[in-house]
Amino acid sequence: MAYDNSEKLNMSMLCKHLGAEISDIDVRNIGREVSLDTIKTALHEHQLLCFRDQELSPDELVDFTCHFGVLLPHVLQQFSLPENPDIYVLSNIVENEKPLGNRREGFGWHTDLTYMEIPPSYTILYGLEVPSEGGDTLYASLYQAWDSLKEKDKDRLRGVRTIHSYPHLYSKRVNVEPLTEEQKNQTPDVVQPAVRIHPDTGREGMYINTGDCIGVEGVSIGESESIMEFINGLYDYTTNNFSYQHKWKKRDLLIWDNRGLLHTATDYDLDLHRRLIWRTSVVGERPIAWKKDI
Ligand SMILES: [Fe+2]
Repeated sequence: MAYDNSEKLNMSMLCKHLGAEISDIDVRNIGREVSLDTIKTALHEHQLLCFRDQELSPDELVDFTCHFGVLLPHVLQQFSLPENPDIYVLSNIVENEKPLGNRREGFGWHTDLTYMEIPPSYTILYGLEVPSEGGDTLYASLYQAWDSLKEKDKDRLRGVRTIHSYPHLYSKRVNVEPLTEEQKNQTPDVVQPAVRIHPDTGREGMYINTGDCIGVEGVSIGESESIMEFINGLYDYTTNNFSYQHKWKKRDLLIWDNRGLLHTATDYDLDLHRRLIWRTSVVGERPIAWKKDI
């Protein structure tokens, strides 16, 4: 089927703040039945897209991911899919005494991998087995929150540069193997702008992530603590007022834009339910700071 730039998607909003569900598309046909530009435009506008009832092999999930950029393998390669290491596995399932994936990952509000100099632009989750109760994924729009702020609050955040540490984030996890020296070497501390500009849309928004943040660069300890308190308040404001709770259906495919969105996993009964999610992500760009590159 031919398409043009005026093509319309069969789309409904997931909530008033963010997210859209796109019906009647087999994502394996992107580029044939629907243009990638149309999908990207919807993604940038709604920040999160949900495609239901997708039937994907590992290679097809990777093909879908590659539409959006270069694959970014996860640091914890011990949880990658054996037949396709570009896919990271989230699961509580154990087969032949071997866990299929990481049992607990993604808890606590965050945007992905701010501890990397070049964080992922997009993250994709594909649900092969999902709990009938719990195991939801929550999202909160930093853009919507930003747009609602007073100009004086925006000005307080513009120009702030936060320091992010993966070892700091990892140290909060319980019952996990310590990071190897190689994993630590792969993740030195990095600095990110607290306000960033979207590279495709030019939209300005907050880029804050408290879980791996160890302070503010270039200010006194007291000022750093004061700014972090301000950021913590913005975090609560965002998650309390601009969020969406995604209740998974089997074979849901979600893709979201990390540039203006927080997300978190939620608990489920690990003994009662099975969960198997494949995850991929895409290399982004060095975050573009407000006014100037850092
Ligand atoms: Fe995440």
